[in-house]
Amino acid sequence: MRVVILKNADAVAKSAAEESIRRIGLADLVGTADLVGTAGLVGTAGLDSVKTPLEKPVVVGLATGGTPLGLYREWIHAYQAGQISFANTMSFNLDEYVGIPPRDPRSYHAYMHENLFRHIDIPPGRSFIPKTDVSNLDESAADYEWKIEQAGGIDYQILGIGSDGHIGFNEMGSSLASRTRVKTLTKKTRMDNARYFDSFDAVPKMAITMGIGTIMNARSILLLATGAGKAKAIRDTAEGPVTAMVPASVLQFHDDVTLMIDEEAAKDLSHREYYLESEANRRRIELAESTGLQIE
Ligand code: GLP
Repeated sequence: MRVVILKNADAVAKSAAEESIRRIGLADLVGTADLVGTAGLVGTAGLDSVKTPLEKPVVVGLATGGTPLGLYREWIHAYQAGQISFANTMSFNLDEYVGIPPRDPRSYHAYMHENLFRHIDIPPGRSFIPKTDVSNLDESAADYEWKIEQAGGIDYQILGIGSDGHIGFNEMGSSLASRTRVKTLTKKTRMDNARYFDSFDAVPKMAITMGIGTIMNARSILLLATGAGKAKAIRDTAEGPVTAMVPASVLQFHDDVTLMIDEEAAKDLSHREYYLESEANRRRIELAESTGLQIE
């Protein structure tokens, strides 16, 4: 597990944007918008200089909550500056509350529209969020899982983390192999999220969430955490035993996970110096690769 410790939330947002833009290839997608779905044009004489649309959209998993807002702001700035494009991406959100209709400003549908989708060029119909305004929630959850599979799985998953170590709405005790399904929220999670509602009682009691198995199938994962309130969850995730009592700890089994956290969220880590040294070495390796010079 790669642990990147940065000064503050702003630095986390900037580095997360840089890292995700590089890993998703968002800068390479600039100029593909008008070609998406018109693959027949590719190779036609005179179009050699035009970017080739990728055969398959890049599938990005998205998170809600306060933490990824800085990252989304950075993406929006880069998009508005013409540096990146979402034209050939497809997105799947982690979760949605039960009992909050999509048009309600407190829904994750509304959050995503307001904080990201309405500002960027992700094609309409290519962003998915679990549907909870239905009579059959189990069917809706199974359908969501199927849609992810049909899309070829998630290439790059953004995650936040609950103060108790949950990811998505996979509360403690969630099966580490779980798929998208309905989960009951713990009192702690409802208390944490009450700040987005008028009162604790107004916080929904259930949600549809991608499962832990669903998240673990993502090819690459970037988990963001900022603030002292996440310090214990981060310590348990990176340095504790793998246990369903701390769902994020299962990420220790994933081969491509980065925890990008600020100093406050890192404050309880026992091996802080080691993580900093590893990052410094990573930069040395990158420099050697780009200059062709061997590391002494
Ligand atoms: C909710 C969401 C999680 C999110 C967590 C932390 O529980 N389902 O995906 O990571 O809140 O939110 P925040 O970033 O606001 O602390």
